[in-house]
Amino acid sequence: MIIRRLDFENYRNLKAGQMEPHAGVNLISGPNAQGKTNLLEAIWLFTGGRSFRGAKDADLVLRGERRAEVNIGFFCEEREQTAQIAILNGRRNAVLNGVPLKRASGLIGRFFAVLFSPEHLSLVREGPSFRRNFIDAALCQVKPGYAALLSRYNRTLVQRNALLKEIPRHSALLDTLDVWDERLAALGESVMKGRAGYLEKIRGPAQKIYAGISQNKENIQLEYQKSAEDLKQALYASRRDDIATGHTNFGPHRDDMEITIDSLSARTFGSQGQKRSVVLALKLAEAELLFRETGERPVILLDDVMSELDSGRQDYLLNHLTDCQVFITCCEPDAVKQLRDGILFFMDGGVLSKK
Ligand SMILES: Nc1ncnc2c1ncn2[C@@H]1O[C@H](COP(=O)(O)OP(=O)(O)OP(=O)(O)O)[C@@H](O)[C@H]1O
Ligand SMILES: [Mg+2]
Repeated sequence: MIIRRLDFENYRNLKAGQMEPHAGVNLISGPNAQGKTNLLEAIWLFTGGRSFRGAKDADLVLRGERRAEVNIGFFCEEREQTAQIAILNGRRNAVLNGVPLKRASGLIGRFFAVLFSPEHLSLVREGPSFRRNFIDAALCQVKPGYAALLSRYNRTLVQRNALLKEIPRHSALLDTLDVWDERLAALGESVMKGRAGYLEKIRGPAQKIYAGISQNKENIQLEYQKSAEDLKQALYASRRDDIATGHTNFGPHRDDMEITIDSLSARTFGSQGQKRSVVLALKLAEAELLFRETGERPVILLDDVMSELDSGRQDYLLNHLTDCQVFITCCEPDAVKQLRDGILFFMDGGVLSKK
């Protein structure tokens, strides 16, 4: 996947402009608040998803204007293609190769990108839900049917929890718990199997990439941590607790992924730079798996990735991701000097220029 050209009009603070990106690394530098992240966000919209900053579509239009438009020409599936995103009346509309799509989400599976944003650091810094979400989101992209499985599991969980809360008042309902346990355990086992399988696949690439980032000084280990080995049995054994607390204490909604660096928990012991490196390794490994599943290398979007990294780790990102097209934003003038091949852009007040 290679973006050949991109133009924008009235997208956030990007009034009008265009770029012809390098097929390798594109470094977008400039001071704070000039529009660097806005540019990555505009590219991200072509994945069919919403703004990664959780913005409403209406907020993506330059204040005071009615309509925003972003166009790309890109090479994918061995041919040149075009796509357009226009935002009007608080709605995103997409056109692919001249054909309007019913919904912008119709672009899913037609354009691939993997994004690192500083918010993703919660993947190592925060609780298990962030790690579960990372695996789930990645699986939804590559495994048909996984999104449906997960939502069936979640619905069943909500129903079982509602029943747990009713049982103290209507003890006869206890008999119906068997059916729900059976159903939840079956769905839960499939979810756990999917996630553990994904972890098996991502482990190798993540370890290799992490070793590269740390210049072979450190290694990471990823382990799926189940809250229960035999879910059906665990549900049965914890019924009394579950009824008392009104929720289900075992299942994939309680699982975690343990990340260790040289055998120490990354969350508890990792330095800032190590945590950042872990998240990067996971994201880049996700890109590698997408490539294995689809035959397309996703565009890599790295927002504000350089800070907290030493020059060796910065060098890896700037000069060693040679297989894919990369867009990196950064506001450190020193990091910029390390770029060996690629194009250096400068963003100033929403105006993009080549340095
Ligand atoms: N709809 C909009 N209309 C006009 N300006 C907007 C709109 N949305 C965002 N902006 C402005 O865009 C500016 C640049 O935002 P952006 O997040 O891209 O900066 P940045 O270059 O990535 O900065 P940093 O280095 O701090 O991350 C902000 O000052 C913001 O006020
Ligand atoms: Mg930014």
